[in-house]
Amino acid sequence: MRQTRYGCLKASEGCLIIDIFDDLAEFAKWWLHHRMLLPPPNAVTTYQNMTGTCLYRHGQYQVQMFTSKPNSVSVSHVHPNVDSYELYLCGDLDFVIAGNIYKHQEVAANPIPVRIHPHYWHEGTTGPLGGSFLSLQKWLNNVPPSCVGEDWVGVDGSAAGTCVGRTETKE
Ligand SMILES: [Fe+2]
Repeated sequence: MRQTRYGCLKASEGCLIIDIFDDLAEFAKWWLHHRMLLPPPNAVTTYQNMTGTCLYRHGQYQVQMFTSKPNSVSVSHVHPNVDSYELYLCGDLDFVIAGNIYKHQEVAANPIPVRIHPHYWHEGTTGPLGGSFLSLQKWLNNVPPSCVGEDWVGVDGSAAGTCVGRTETKE
C-alpha cells in the first residue's frame, strides 16, 4: 500500500521522485497478514450498545474489534486524534463514512478496509443480527491509544469520556 508519486521538474536535472510513505496503510497490511494478538490489560471497553476489545497495541498503533448489539444506531461522529481503517467482519452492519454508504450485503461479499481519516464523519447501524468490525488505528498528536470511543466528537455534541448515549437502540 505504499504510495509513490512522481513529479517531473522541468529543470535540466530531470525528474524528482517523491516517495510518500503511508505508515498506517503499511501497518494495516502487516497486521491483517499476521493477525498478531497483543492485547493490553485494559483491552475491553463497553458502551451502551457496543463493546470494544483491543486485540493489539504497540506504540501508536492498535487494532480493536467492535461488536454492536442488534438494532443499534450510533450518532455521526469523528475521532479527532485517530486515523484508521475499518474492516467489516460479520452481521447486518451498515456504515456511512464520509457520505459513502457501505451496506453489509455488498461489503460482506468483498470485505475491504475502508479508511477513516480523523475528519471523516461516520456512523453505523445494525439490524437484528448485530455486527462486528475491526478498527486498525494509528493514534495521532502524541495521544496515547485507548478506545476510540474516548476520542470522540459527536454531531449531537457528545464528547470523549461520556460512555453512555453514544449508541441508541432502534425502536
Ligand atoms: Fe468511530
